[in-house]
Amino acid sequence: MTRLRTAILISGRGSNMDALIAASKDPSFPADVALVLSNRPDAPGLAKAKAAGVATAAVDHKIYAGREEFERSLQLLLETYRIEFICLAGFMRMFTPWFVGQWRGRMLNIHPSLLPAFRGLDTHERALADGVKIHGCTVHFVVPEMDEGPIVAQAAVPVLDDDTPQTLAARVLAQEHVIYPMALQLVASGAVRIERNRVIGALAPHETAFIVPDAAAAPKRIS
Ligand code: GAR
Repeated sequence: MTRLRTAILISGRGSNMDALIAASKDPSFPADVALVLSNRPDAPGLAKAKAAGVATAAVDHKIYAGREEFERSLQLLLETYRIEFICLAGFMRMFTPWFVGQWRGRMLNIHPSLLPAFRGLDTHERALADGVKIHGCTVHFVVPEMDEGPIVAQAAVPVLDDDTPQTLAARVLAQEHVIYPMALQLVASGAVRIERNRVIGALAPHETAFIVPDAAAAPKRIS
């Protein structure tokens, strides 16, 4: 089996990166994490990737005059590593339409809300402020518009009366770690396809729609 050569792009902690690397350690997983790339040389995730035996690189966006110059460097590096697919995992830079065009249909993102609700930043604070009872996370293909694009998988969790942004974030994050490897597996194995704005073809709903009804489920500790 040829495995899809995948790069994970991070800006920080890299817990989703950890989950993807862990899944890819199984030789039957259809994607191989060939590179972890950060726009922040000091991203804690880089050391964790290195320790897991994955090649790492940093392209510091601050030293570039503009977005496109930064992205051309990224692109060169991705080509050097013969990368075929990208997973954004807490990568906190917007891309130009040019870069997105290079990776159309070949780039996934994870976002900490049930899109299309709560695009952008501070999703957990905003979910609490709006009083929603269900919150969650989404894995989707990347398109030029921020936090849009065909949805591969979502997980829903309850919002509890005594939640803080931190407790809610932890409950959502535990599900991010479940759905991102699952979504990458579906896409990399060719099990799903994009039709208009929809991703279809998953064998069973439990591969793409996760509902965590147990409000008492203890949030997983984040390392
Ligand atoms: C995750 O919660 C991810 O969904 C979010 O950043 C966090 C990164 O955590 N991404 C976004 O907000 C993208 N707009 P991690 O570095 O531990 O994976």
